[in-house]
Amino acid sequence: MSDWDPDLYRRFEQERTRPAVELLARVPLNGIGHGYDLGCDPGNSTELLVRRFGEGRVAGLDMSDAMLDSARQRLPDANFVRADISTWQPEAAPDLIYANAALQWVPDHRMLVPRLFGLLAPGGVLAVQMPDNLDEPSHRAMHEVATRARWTDSIGDAGAARAAIQLAPADYYDLLAPVAAEVDVWRTTYFHVMDGAAAIVSWVRASGLKPFVDPLPPEQQAEYLSSYEAEIEKAYPVRADGRRLLAFPRLFFMARKAALWAQRPEASAEAGSALATPRRDFDPLQRESRMNDAFARP
Ligand SMILES: C[S@@+](CC[C@H](N)C(=O)[O-])C[C@H]1O[C@@H](n2cnc3c(N)ncnc32)[C@H](O)[C@@H]1O
Repeated sequence: MSDWDPDLYRRFEQERTRPAVELLARVPLNGIGHGYDLGCDPGNSTELLVRRFGEGRVAGLDMSDAMLDSARQRLPDANFVRADISTWQPEAAPDLIYANAALQWVPDHRMLVPRLFGLLAPGGVLAVQMPDNLDEPSHRAMHEVATRARWTDSIGDAGAARAAIQLAPADYYDLLAPVAAEVDVWRTTYFHVMDGAAAIVSWVRASGLKPFVDPLPPEQQAEYLSSYEAEIEKAYPVRADGRRLLAFPRLFFMARKAALWAQRPEASAEAGSALATPRRDFDPLQRESRMNDAFARP
């Protein structure tokens, strides 16, 4: 697969950042010693963490040079690390591991998710959001167009990798509940207002469509995209205002490790109460609206 395209990814940044805001709102930490944004992409999700916890407390991690360069331009004073999430080992146990729209690309969640949780410091939080849209018309059409004879050899079984990665919501609960003090799993379906079928194609071209289109030679890429857009035209009818609604379900989970004082009650005095207590002064809706303002494009 070719490298990620930060410019294309940013085209729908406000819509893509909304689940990141909602995931962060559910993180029950007042402050952190340090935390990581896994799959930090052009820095939009890292920026949220930096605003909440402060620069110097958060590092963005990605294995794409294009994404890391773009993230560094956006947050020149923040820390960024080039690493593969599958094998990454932090130097010291973090208080927060946050992964918005990244783990769907990293295989073997039955190993990965408990491993990431195990890296946390006592009281630490693993917060994850992934698209849950493989059964949506946008993804079914990728497969349907890929089965057409002229490019099946090049595309192969492109969608299989991601379909094999993601587990059912209850599976994440089962992986985390035996080791976590608290687990919360939820699903939200967004209905994004899109100008037309071409806009839906642009949205998925920067993410889910990559494994289907990237293996094709350039002339076939254009042909595939035009066949795909014809399917999208049929699957997402025009609404009352002439635009189309892209239904986009996303799966979220948050797991909190027992704090030191829960494991050793005598340690409560030394650990303080910051890590496991929800912030009372934190208003996610106010923050979301500030972030939307910040990301609004003229
Ligand atoms: C959809 S984008 C990131 C989303 C971003 N966090 C946001 O909130 O919009 C997924 C990112 O994960 C990164 N990524 C995918 N697999 C990875 C891996 N194994 N290790 C590190 N980064 C990975 C990609 O390079 C890409 O930047």
